Amino acid sequence: MTYTSILTEVRGRVGIVKLNRPQAMNAFNTILLGELFDALEIFDADENIGAMIVTGNEKAFAAGADIKEMADATPFEMIKQGRVEKWDRIRGIKKVVIAAVSGWALGGGCEFALSCDMIVASESAKFGQPEITIGIIPGAGGTQRLARLLGKQLAMEMVINNRTLTAAEALQFGLANRVVPVEGYLDAAVAFAEEIAARAPMAVRMAKDSVNAAFETTLTEGLKAEKRNFYPLFSTEDQKEGMKAFIEKRKAEWKGQ
Ligand code: HXC
Repeated sequence: MTYTSILTEVRGRVGIVKLNRPQAMNAFNTILLGELFDALEIFDADENIGAMIVTGNEKAFAAGADIKEMADATPFEMIKQGRVEKWDRIRGIKKVVIAAVSGWALGGGCEFALSCDMIVASESAKFGQPEITIGIIPGAGGTQRLARLLGKQLAMEMVINNRTLTAAEALQFGLANRVVPVEGYLDAAVAFAEEIAARAPMAVRMAKDSVNAAFETTLTEGLKAEKRNFYPLFSTEDQKEGMKAFIEKRKAEWKGQ
């Protein structure tokens, strides 16, 4: 596949998508967004890939949706093009996606990072929703995901008053999983992704689906979703192997079956 606005790379069992519009702070235009999801979906369907990373460059993960592309749009055009719906493709990805964020993660860039499963932030990462400064609000899930993750007060401040979070704050408030030095931040994210990619694939998939269920529903329904994912794992060879390996005091060898 030939891309114009992203680069892809495979390291071991980790698929990496690098946003590559540095001249525009990796702003998501239609082409970039399409290529990003095409690449993630290809990695998702590839049995040799166990986990994925989306990253930008040291200065910018992504500065949001492309303002120049949207500036003159009418509501009719925005709806017809499904501008917001395009971002929902992330929800169809079954494997774990880690956002490796350095520099700016603003607007849609912050929202995309929040849509990933986990975030590795470099010490220079800054998260924010500056849409209010250009007369709009977040449209790719920011109001909802930030409120669920950070609580009402801080989400309000970010969305209404353009409060940005430093990497240290993102870690403190549970938005980032870990903060690492800028130098080598991608390597740190890859090492993290490799740990996940080395685990039993179907169990990882069911675990992701189960945790995500917590954001969709009541505790009772969420517990049912967890059970629906828990029991079928006993039909996998990997469950038999995992428990046998524990009893035999050896490392499990996953087959992905
Ligand atoms: C289009 C953008 C852009 C964006 C930066 N650029 N962000 N172009 N859309 N979101 C372009 C600039 O116009 C400039 O192009 C070049 O990238 C470098 O940016 P500078 O502003 O000169 O860099 P700097 O001074 O270092 O400031 C970096 C920055 C700032 C703080 C990230 O660029 C910024 O505030 N960007 C906008 C952030 C934002 O408002 N995001 C929300 C977008 S709306 P030229 O050609 O002049 O060199 C959104 C809604 C999502 O995301 C809804 C989804 C449906």
